[in-house]
Amino acid sequence: MRFLVTAGPTREPIDPVRYISNRSSGKMGYAIAEAALHAGHGVILISGPVNLAPPSDAKFISISSSEEMFDAVHRHAEKCHVCVLCAAVADYKLADVSRTKIKKRSKKFSLELIPTRDILDSLGRRQDRQFLLVGFAAETNDVEQNAAKKLREKNCDIMIANDVSSVKSGMESDLNEVTILFQNGERQKISRASKTIIARELVKIFQNSATKMFDKKNVTITERN
Ligand code: CTP
Repeated sequence: MRFLVTAGPTREPIDPVRYISNRSSGKMGYAIAEAALHAGHGVILISGPVNLAPPSDAKFISISSSEEMFDAVHRHAEKCHVCVLCAAVADYKLADVSRTKIKKRSKKFSLELIPTRDILDSLGRRQDRQFLLVGFAAETNDVEQNAAKKLREKNCDIMIANDVSSVKSGMESDLNEVTILFQNGERQKISRASKTIIARELVKIFQNSATKMFDKKNVTITERN
């Protein structure tokens, strides 16, 4: 199979020297890309700016803003059997990006933000999609409840609930613990382990779910160009 994986943060420019971003390290997404390659799958890795070396066997697409990630994902999704959207995409961007550096002022000032496009949601809305769609829900509270809501509302097949409130796991850490939520209401927990171990478990689950989905639709898993 071929996997599409998004990873890392996006950067939404404010002016030529500043941007809005978040603390995502990209470690979980890169670990999933590595695990999928390890399992013999093809991988397209679409990544925001991170301090990690991309796996050499993956097709690597480097992006910066949420718009660039949106375009890259939509360009490549149809070629893939599994799309795992692990990136921490910014929810807001500037209404107007300044072409020149904004000068310091002594008074309070505000930036006008507008919502970015939701990439996962846009894929979930595609009626004709021929790939397993997986989202990651980064939550600090009511973790499973919020993840279940995202699973439903973004119309994906699997949502991975990720508690990012703990310093011992989640964002920036090498460890993680996740709960996997399926469309049929089933849930499965993977307790704290390295992101490498968790990624290998997740890839097995995605591969099995994709196989079941294609069987159900009577679709043969073939090479896609
Ligand atoms: N996501 C996306 N495009 C966005 C925002 C989020 O594709 N503009 C995807 C993420 O890659 C992830 C999922 O949606 O797979 C959930 O992201 P998360 O940040 O947990 O949730 P949000 O939808 O942004 O909602 P909130 O910030 O309110 O929790």
